[in-house]
Amino acid sequence: FQAPYPPYDPTDRSGFSYETVVKRWPIILTNVIDHVHRLLHDMTLEARDSDTLKAEELSKKITQGQDIISEISRLKYRMARDHELEDIPQDGDVLVAEYNADLEKLKQASQNTWFGAPWLYAECYLYRLIRAYFNQKTYWRGFDSFSAQKEEMFRNSGAAIYQIASTMHELESEKAKFQGDPDKLEVLFKEMIQICLWGNATDLSLLTHLSPSDIEHLQTVGKEAQEARREFILKDDQNAVWTYIKTLANQGKRLDFVLDNAGFELFTDFVFADFLVTYTPYFSQVVFHPKLFPWFVSDVTPADFAKTISSLLSTAFFPPNSTISSDSVAHLQQMVTRWQKYLDEGIFSLATNINNGQKMTEFWTGPWPYWNMNELAPELGQWLSGSGLVIFKGDLNYRKLAGDVKWPVSTPFSTAIGPLAGSFPLLSLRTNKADVAVGIDETVAEDLDNRDEKWRVSGKYALVSFLPRSVD
Ligand code: F6P
Ligand code: MG
Repeated sequence: FQAPYPPYDPTDRSGFSYETVVKRWPIILTNVIDHVHRLLHDMTLEARDSDTLKAEELSKKITQGQDIISEISRLKYRMARDHELEDIPQDGDVLVAEYNADLEKLKQASQNTWFGAPWLYAECYLYRLIRAYFNQKTYWRGFDSFSAQKEEMFRNSGAAIYQIASTMHELESEKAKFQGDPDKLEVLFKEMIQICLWGNATDLSLLTHLSPSDIEHLQTVGKEAQEARREFILKDDQNAVWTYIKTLANQGKRLDFVLDNAGFELFTDFVFADFLVTYTPYFSQVVFHPKLFPWFVSDVTPADFAKTISSLLSTAFFPPNSTISSDSVAHLQQMVTRWQKYLDEGIFSLATNINNGQKMTEFWTGPWPYWNMNELAPELGQWLSGSGLVIFKGDLNYRKLAGDVKWPVSTPFSTAIGPLAGSFPLLSLRTNKADVAVGIDETVAEDLDNRDEKWRVSGKYALVSFLPRSVD
């Protein structure tokens, strides 16, 4: 499928991709360097107090770490000077040949430099390349240089997490009331979907321009906060998706969650999944699709997924805070114990643990628009076609759904996702952090532009886009 519009790329200096290459990526790379540097410093101290054997091991690891730092510094240098993207070295991990084949095509088109390549390709390539730098070093293979950042951010989300846990606990006592009352259930559904939607507003690759208080503000939940934010949802298919979901009663349907970020966002994904399974008759199983390797700083890897549950269950994970009641602590335990039970029973599962799941998961870390899914990852297309609903979380998933090309804002979502439209019931929950956006009233977009609102990229606005399966 070929979209009738060109992709976003940094040749347009007013676009977010330009700012990304000039400012955001260098910061992200510097953070990786700093992090590895700190680890090397600790290792040096440790080596001093170790026996010879251990000290030798550490010294090898330190040397390899220094090499990684040099490689990333070199990459930063080349990026800033618009040098060519180099082939991804063969590191025995996924998709090397695929990335390099696409790079060859860009080379033919003279678009194989940091400021010349389509933004979507270059950004995915960047994370795959960082992966290769670590993979090639025996002591660092598979290392997640974003892990500490993800964990710290999660620790700082305690207040919002306890608040949501208590809200969910209140639901428990009201269960009987709303289960027999479709209107009440609808109101709750909308609260839950919005918790999940706004959970996407906090994302580490954007932290380069959000302050901690901005983040706390974005995590505030509760009815009034939700209500106040509703006007920021520029395309709102909540009614359509609810009407669809209501047709699924008692059919044992599966929900597929194409995850985005670890930490607080994943927590809100669990909350939404739990709500649909525990409090409604519409879904009996949920499969969560993670990323196979560290991706766009904050995305969920299988290791993050496992750690999320154990962190939430550990009473020592969140820093003590006098505003948190012991009731909330109990509520969180109760809820997450249920999630653990669902995981044990296979009601919740991680895609990488199902048959063919590793293979299906690869696709999410490729550089491609999703409209090519059925050709590039037929097993995945097949799997999703059996789903009751596929939820795509976050900004990058949205960019890939719409191919990251310059669609006019009023383009229908069904047009922008190309041949994927109608393959399965699809819901995208996205806060806007990149230029591409469709399904929006032109006058609304113009008005925002005239007010100089950075509505496409600020993370303050959102889109809820739903498309049913086509019935023909
Ligand atoms: O940097 C590109 C980008 O897609 C941004 O647009 C966004 O800030 C980030 O990466 C990822 O956002 P999300 O975690 O919501 O996919
Ligand atoms: Mg992400």
